[in-house]
Amino acid sequence: MKSFTLLICYGLFVLHAARGDEWNYPTPGTNGVMSEPERWGGQCDNGRRQSPIDLTIAAAVRGQFAPLFFSNYMLPLKQPRVTNTGHSIQINNRDSAITMQGGGLGGRFVLDQMHFHWGSEHTLDDTRYGLELHLVHHDTRYASLEDAVQARNGVAVLGVLFHVGSQPNMHIDTILDTATEIQNEVGKEALLRGKLSPYNLLPSNRTSFYRYEGSLTTPACAESVIWTVFTESISVSLEQVERFKAIHDQTGRELVNNFRSVQPLNTRALVYATEWDQQGNNFATKMTSNVVFLGAIVLLVITSRLSYH
Ligand SMILES: *[C@@H]1O[C@H](CO)[C@@H](O)[C@H](O)[C@H]1NC(C)=O
Ligand SMILES: [Zn+2]
Repeated sequence: MKSFTLLICYGLFVLHAARGDEWNYPTPGTNGVMSEPERWGGQCDNGRRQSPIDLTIAAAVRGQFAPLFFSNYMLPLKQPRVTNTGHSIQINNRDSAITMQGGGLGGRFVLDQMHFHWGSEHTLDDTRYGLELHLVHHDTRYASLEDAVQARNGVAVLGVLFHVGSQPNMHIDTILDTATEIQNEVGKEALLRGKLSPYNLLPSNRTSFYRYEGSLTTPACAESVIWTVFTESISVSLEQVERFKAIHDQTGRELVNNFRSVQPLNTRALVYATEWDQQGNNFATKMTSNVVFLGAIVLLVITSRLSYH
């Protein structure tokens, strides 16, 4: 009987450990700054292409890609479910028609879920933003996100930064209204109250972004992510940022912030992509003006010759 109880206890222990969500963000010190770096083990500690990173023009090379092309992003999500994962607020998508391609991604990627980090994970020129939204996609060559995580660049994440401004963001409000309902209930799902299209959470300028090869920013930090972080940020109010900070983690404490510290770039190329075919357009404009100029000279010569008669 005693060994049976022991066996049950051991079984529970193994199950508990195997759940894999026994990790935490370091608690911020009294000045709000992380007192210690994360020690999450494995690839998180010894990987060479980890995320997030600081995004800065000085470290970047210039890039030009075909435009990102979004399919069905404008449609409201079908029965979107909001979850308090204990590490973030996440909105799940099961509609495989919501895809993106182009933008130098080299494949078609389907949207799996969107989640927030309060305190952005990526910094722009060492500046942290109020929020960062991650739109997590997997390459349609793989059956699922779980499969795609095993492959190099099998996962594509879009990062959207939110700066603090004077007006609340109505789309973020829709998410927060549902998130607040489950702020104390880790693992619980709630149907989103109201409509939400992924498109409403993208900046209007989607041609200017940073691109690099990185990782998931939560354990096990799989190095399978091709990152796109837009340089244009969207506005949220200070009150909205504070509402995210009131969400509780699995220990029942407020999840004050949930960003991972920036990781070294190491030998990776960071690409700063701007407007597609800008050079081509400039070339075309120059050619047109040259043709017009030459034409004018030819006309002048002809008319001056004509006037001699
Ligand atoms: C997007 O932003 C970049 C950088 O600020 C700018 O050069 C470009 O003209 C913008 N594109 C559009 C379509 O607004
Ligand atoms: Zn994330």
